[in-house]
Amino acid sequence: MCGIVGYCGPKNVTPILLDGLKRLEYRGYDSAGIAVQTENSIKVVKRTGKIQDLRAIVPANLEGHCGIGHTRWATHGGVTDINAHPHQDSSGKIAVVHNGIIENYTALKASLEKQGFRFASETDSEVLPHLIAYYYQGDLEKAVRQALKQVKGTYGIAVIHSDEPGRIVGARYGSPLVVGVGDGEMLLGSDVTAMIAHTKQVVYLEDGELVSLTKDTYTITDLNDQQVDKQVDEIQWDLEAIEKEGFACFMEKEIFEQPESIARTLSGRLDPEYTTGKLGGLNMTSRELLGIRRIKIVAAGTSWHAGLVGAYLIETLARIPASAELSSELRYRNSVVEPDTIYFAVTQSGETADTLYAMRELKRKGARVLGICNVVGSTIARESDGGVYTHAGPEIAVASTKAFTSQLAVFYVFALLMARMRDMSVSAGQRFVKELQGIPEKVREVLKQRDHIQALAKKYYKVRDFLFLGRGLEYPVALEGALKLKEISYIHAEGYSAGEIKHGPIALVNEDTPSVFLVPQDSLRDKVLSNIKEIKARKGPIIAVCTEGDAEVAAIADDIIPVPQVDELFYPFILIIPLQLFAYFCALELGRDVDQPRNLAKSVTVE
Ligand code: AGP
Repeated sequence: MCGIVGYCGPKNVTPILLDGLKRLEYRGYDSAGIAVQTENSIKVVKRTGKIQDLRAIVPANLEGHCGIGHTRWATHGGVTDINAHPHQDSSGKIAVVHNGIIENYTALKASLEKQGFRFASETDSEVLPHLIAYYYQGDLEKAVRQALKQVKGTYGIAVIHSDEPGRIVGARYGSPLVVGVGDGEMLLGSDVTAMIAHTKQVVYLEDGELVSLTKDTYTITDLNDQQVDKQVDEIQWDLEAIEKEGFACFMEKEIFEQPESIARTLSGRLDPEYTTGKLGGLNMTSRELLGIRRIKIVAAGTSWHAGLVGAYLIETLARIPASAELSSELRYRNSVVEPDTIYFAVTQSGETADTLYAMRELKRKGARVLGICNVVGSTIARESDGGVYTHAGPEIAVASTKAFTSQLAVFYVFALLMARMRDMSVSAGQRFVKELQGIPEKVREVLKQRDHIQALAKKYYKVRDFLFLGRGLEYPVALEGALKLKEISYIHAEGYSAGEIKHGPIALVNEDTPSVFLVPQDSLRDKVLSNIKEIKARKGPIIAVCTEGDAEVAAIADDIIPVPQVDELFYPFILIIPLQLFAYFCALELGRDVDQPRNLAKSVTVE
């Protein structure tokens, strides 16, 4: 969603802001802008479209040493140049960029208008510069603090004033903000990708905190002006991790990176001696783990699909009742929280509003909530009672790929850990560990199917509707395959349980509606084969993702994507790869913007 970058320092701020915004593109946006402090004034340039469109209208002589920038993903008010950020007060002395939603903006706007403030845009955000101007008496930090006390809603903001050169004031409530501590320069950003080119030293703000920074100093206080001491964290990855490294786009790079990202997730988390999993970050003793009677998983989108696999696996292996629920549903359901239940909040970004608020609601009721997060230092990672970082590395493409397989890997380790405390024998644990360690290599083998899958995409990309079908552990993988296809190619795709198809969706089947079946050699394979025959009898084309050498499936399907044999519990890792590639190549054929599909944002920080 919206992105923020700010800089104070000796360098020319304009290219730093534009490059920072470019790095924030992955979050999803529809307009962008910058505000630069020049001598005694603030110059704002903003417009709809991409960063290169903004770059094209930024005057070559726009220079300064302090400024803020923003990528906007429209919520209140259409996608127009005027609605783009930064917004200014009527005097033009203050400029503000804002992520989040000001819920009481209608009342604030009405009251400000009565006092003569004139609004230019339709946005909720514009109340902020006017409100700050209303309180301003020569101290920007103080004025921001007073203004924020009037605001209801969520915000991550950065503010500059032409009378206070070289100062940025930022604040956070419900929308992330990070300070980048450089050598003689300071940065502010909605996430660390905006600043990694300049510094790896960062300070994460918490809700209710405000920062005032100059090129040499940063001071963090709360809304009551009490100073807050914070630790400086170091970002553990390099700039290269967020560059394309020769791939056409980030999604392709991230798909092909999965052998390494899965291996990273597993690294140090398998204990060959006791043939079990090691997850120290859970912050739970063995005795506490033994006392768990139920496991509930909350998440959204792809992370929810990983959670569905996780729940299936935990219940199968550890014999603990487990389920996965959409966080947007759980939050408003008066769910029962029991003391011997643990919750997992699963999230790549660690900032998804639905999951964050579901987690807070659960914690309010006394639940123990553990995070499975990719982004280190993200809000969910910090607010959870413990958890596991997936270590997939930065995921830039909006469509999640490597984060999914790394989330799976965490669940496999956790299921092993719990199973080995209960029924699973040492030798079964040994086989499980061996199989899990072999997964990166098997994924590498599947990736070799690249050209074959591209050829299939060329054959099928004009299709309007697809069905994705699987059973058991393959059902969530079918959901994920359908999600991938629709989000980046805009082709309609339904993910369904293959066993459920005869209860309704089979009415959709005809010669123009292909079904992608996940039919590996597992205990449900014959059942799925029957489901394939039901579709075939109705002239539905079949693309089967099946185990190599399965002649029976090959004979009935129109096309097959063979995958290597693995133990039946491990097929989700192997089967999702062809579906990611299929979606990617279809989107490519259709000329879509693969990394930034329309209407979508990487981290969905609004409800
Ligand atoms: C995945 O491809 C999607 N873009 C989306 O469904 C995503 O998984 C969802 O918004 C949850 O995000 P999170 O993992 O960052 O919480």
